[in-house]
Amino acid sequence: MRFSNSTKLFEKAKNILPGGVNSPVRAFRAVGGNPIFIKKAKGSKIYDIDGNVFIDYVGSWGPMILGHCHPKVASAIKKAVDKGTSYGAPTPLEVELAKLVLEAFPSMEMVRFVNSGTEAAMGAIRLARAYAGRDKIIKFEGCYHGHADSLLVKAGSGATTLGVPDSPGVPKDIAKNTYTAIYNDINSVKNLFEKDPEGIACVIVEPVPGNMGVVLPKNDFLKNLKDVCRKYGAVLIFDEVMSGFRSTFGGVQKLYKIDPDMTCLGKVIGGGLPVGAFGGKKKIMEKLSPAGPVYQAGTLSGNPLAMTAGIETLKQLKKKGVYEKLLKTTNQICCGIEVIAKRKGLPVWIARSGSMFTLFFNNKPVHNYLDAKKSNLEQFSKYFRTMLGNGIYLPPSQFEAVFVSTAHTNADVEKTLDAVEKAFKGI
Ligand SMILES: Cc1ncc(COP(=O)(O)O)c(C=O)c1O
Repeated sequence: MRFSNSTKLFEKAKNILPGGVNSPVRAFRAVGGNPIFIKKAKGSKIYDIDGNVFIDYVGSWGPMILGHCHPKVASAIKKAVDKGTSYGAPTPLEVELAKLVLEAFPSMEMVRFVNSGTEAAMGAIRLARAYAGRDKIIKFEGCYHGHADSLLVKAGSGATTLGVPDSPGVPKDIAKNTYTAIYNDINSVKNLFEKDPEGIACVIVEPVPGNMGVVLPKNDFLKNLKDVCRKYGAVLIFDEVMSGFRSTFGGVQKLYKIDPDMTCLGKVIGGGLPVGAFGGKKKIMEKLSPAGPVYQAGTLSGNPLAMTAGIETLKQLKKKGVYEKLLKTTNQICCGIEVIAKRKGLPVWIARSGSMFTLFFNNKPVHNYLDAKKSNLEQFSKYFRTMLGNGIYLPPSQFEAVFVSTAHTNADVEKTLDAVEKAFKGI
């Protein structure tokens, strides 16, 4: 496989786009080599500018749950373009998508549409702080909620350490308001609340994290989290930007029967166009401007093209058999990988939630970020490169989720498992 056009374009791009890309993980730094520049995509396939074709398991990092260019979604967007692309005024489309989202997530009584997952989490945190009248927040090590200042923070040396900025440019004075706990360790959360019982406004969590790779909750962790929040009067925010329509239709909160106070969504609800959303209980959401005093706004929020893509995507997802198909395909891939790994004597840990999964090159179970970080990154890089060379486009990092779509066929699964067989041979 040749990548000369992509390589040349990347060299050019690096002079005018920082790092040659518009979002860091696209640069392939975690696996070495240069990124592939994409020309087009259709169904389960993605085509690069060198004429290579790949089976795509990135799916734009989650949104393309129906595959690329789904005929119904594409046609709805094309029709919407002819009616104008942005008005900066309310449309019936926003009300329609809101209804669909609230039906899918009964814990949400009201919703605000924004343009990205970052904006959703940022808005949710501001609102939760205002509602609770407190400044501190808790997030979990390894959970990603976009790149707003107060969320770009990782743990210090111990659970009680005040947050330190993860990036230059995040003021220490902001980071110090973010405590970091350990996913799947309820005591790490309780300790923080015991030390600061009246200072913590909210806990934000990816209920099934996808940003340290997929990790599943264990031992009633999510229920305990809800109980602790209730005890201390803190708002529980589920960031389901990734898991929302991936774990199942209705998200992790439906699977684990948890009623969070607030939820963040993104990715799938925009059907491949830029959309995010945050919502929750009316008593909280009514504090949001213009109903209440907490300011939040957006020139392109509720954009008619994005709303149209979201509506059509959710309509397709509601059809009978869609999630069964997604689960079946994901199962075939995960079980297939497990069988090959066993046969080769290669220790791996596969965590799956609905149509997203991570294959960790790890001989131990992965329950939190520390466990995930012990994965063998050299093995992952080799695996990634062999898969790519055999026409399989995977997320270029061990700490990401693989996304399966309804467009993946049995033939795709077979080709994928053939490539896994080859990749494992070289490890
Ligand atoms: C759980 C979660 N929250 C928030 C975000 C940020 O979303 P965006 O990249 O749309 O800003 C992401 C992005 O991957 C995410 O996975």
